[in-house]
Amino acid sequence: MCGIVGYAGSRPALQIVIDGLARLEYRGYDSAGVAIVADGEVRATRRAGKLARLRESLAAGTPSPGEVGIGHTRWATHGPPTDRNAHPHRDCTGAIAVVHNGIIENFATLRERLEKDGHILASDTDTEAVAHLLEDAMAGQQDLTEAMRTVCRRLDGAFTLVAVHAGQPDVVVGARRNSPLVVGRGTGENFLASDVAAFIEHTRDAIELGQDQVVELRRDGVRVIDFDGRPADVKEYHVDWDVSAAEKGGYDYFMLKEIAEQPQAVADTLLGRVGMDGRLTLDEMRLSDEELREVDKIIIVACGTAYHAGLIAKYAIEHWAQLPCEVELASEFRYRDPILTRTTLVIAISQSGETMDTLMAVRHAREQRARVLGICNVNGSSIPRECDGVLYTHAGPEIAVASTKAFLTQLVAVYLVALYIAQTRGTKWADEVFAVVQLLAGMPEKVEKVLETMEPVRALARSLASEKCVLFLGRHVGYPVALEGALKLKELAYMHAEGFAAGELKHGPIALIEENLPVVVVVPPRARDVLHDKIVSNIQEIRARGARTIVIAEAGDESVVAYADTLLRVPAVPTLLQPLVTTVPLQVFACELATAKGHDVDQPRNLAKSVTVE
Ligand code: G6P
Repeated sequence: MCGIVGYAGSRPALQIVIDGLARLEYRGYDSAGVAIVADGEVRATRRAGKLARLRESLAAGTPSPGEVGIGHTRWATHGPPTDRNAHPHRDCTGAIAVVHNGIIENFATLRERLEKDGHILASDTDTEAVAHLLEDAMAGQQDLTEAMRTVCRRLDGAFTLVAVHAGQPDVVVGARRNSPLVVGRGTGENFLASDVAAFIEHTRDAIELGQDQVVELRRDGVRVIDFDGRPADVKEYHVDWDVSAAEKGGYDYFMLKEIAEQPQAVADTLLGRVGMDGRLTLDEMRLSDEELREVDKIIIVACGTAYHAGLIAKYAIEHWAQLPCEVELASEFRYRDPILTRTTLVIAISQSGETMDTLMAVRHAREQRARVLGICNVNGSSIPRECDGVLYTHAGPEIAVASTKAFLTQLVAVYLVALYIAQTRGTKWADEVFAVVQLLAGMPEKVEKVLETMEPVRALARSLASEKCVLFLGRHVGYPVALEGALKLKELAYMHAEGFAAGELKHGPIALIEENLPVVVVVPPRARDVLHDKIVSNIQEIRARGARTIVIAEAGDESVVAYADTLLRVPAVPTLLQPLVTTVPLQVFACELATAKGHDVDQPRNLAKSVTVE
């Protein structure tokens, strides 16, 4: 949440910083700002609203020269999204500019003290206190890196900070605790950013910064120290995707591109995970077979769409690995008293690997000695770094705020884990595991088929654009799919949408049904006859009460035809794999409906993709 860019090089910094911010807008778009060091001063421009407004202001002014600069795109936490609260924030002298991602929890105390000491604070933000603290720290020593180190030691909470000072025109200083910051290493130039996407067009060589580290960035070098001033160990890596992956590639929205990329993302996540002998090999997972054999309970923690992947995974884990499995919203997990032991395996699912609620759940689980496995998409992000083991999804960069391809790959990854545990614990024979893996290998083609038949879904979405409410029903793994369908519609179309377990309908939600209310029903495969027949009865119940039924059922299922006002077909696949095909029409439906309402589907209001505050 909030995107940060820093540049020190030999090219005009302004354009590079702005282009970097454009790639980080998914992290927040309440306001944007830049500060460029030039001619012995720091010139800042900041505007409420999306980056486009900042661009307009900059175009109207005199272009800032300068080869060192910082920038910020905000998701508001402290103070409304106004010009005044937009970053960068300045100290009293105007020599310092600072940008921040995270929350400084003790800012009120710091601010009170600063005001007593005569500082004038001009915004409502927690960040501004840092600019003034840096001002005080600089007064004694005139070195921004040292000042940053001193200030960071006084801060509580989560922060990535990046600052410049007029007196040190060739330096950008960054610091991180609990929020992301990566370094990009170029030739004669270096970059700082919340995410490699910001500098991927300039370099694919990156450095992962650790917890509680300060980085000093110059044109010709990068120095990293810890908060105590000792040289820090850092991990260098090469980013394995290029700039084209972070561009729209001809699509109107990133979301459309990401929906279309799902067959490839699923295939990539399966790639290289089956050995020559047909057995699953998840070596990179870092948890030994011995450790997995000891596991007697699994708890999945995640947020948002990743939580829905966890809800689906529970069915697979209990079925294949025959282990009890709980699924918990990461934000709730550590506030109850979860029973965790050394033999509990906690699985944290997160696309970004930075979601603060999930990261805190991971820490809590590790403190209780549970083993923790991360399923993440972003290489080197905080969650995989803090887990005992990790299985990466290979969805490539996901930029639209609403998660699509990451969700499908999370399902694949967690299924692989379930099968691997089954293989290791001997709850499934090797040939049974292999048979499921073969079915998984066929899924990219099935997802492709679904994508080819989406025109009726789009037409339906357009026809429902003026509706106030849509309900979603499912059973078994279809229930989390219903939740996901409803979430997509809420976040993109700002419509009231609810997902229900179809069996629960009669216990309350059926009271919501009225004439012409659109209700989407996800029907399980016919092979699951009891489950299937029950939901067909549910469809009849709601139709009898006037609902407009939109039925998603497998090809060849004739039993639903009579009860469907609109029938959407998906390829026939086994029950546990069905979410991989039934979720796709719901993504397309929400995306098209939101577009019909004139919304920006990549940047829905009030949301951010990577939520780095609790
Ligand atoms: C935010 C996004 C959701 C996402 C959730 C979890 O709320 O808007 O799309 O599902 O965070 O993100 P993660 O990166 O942990 O999967």
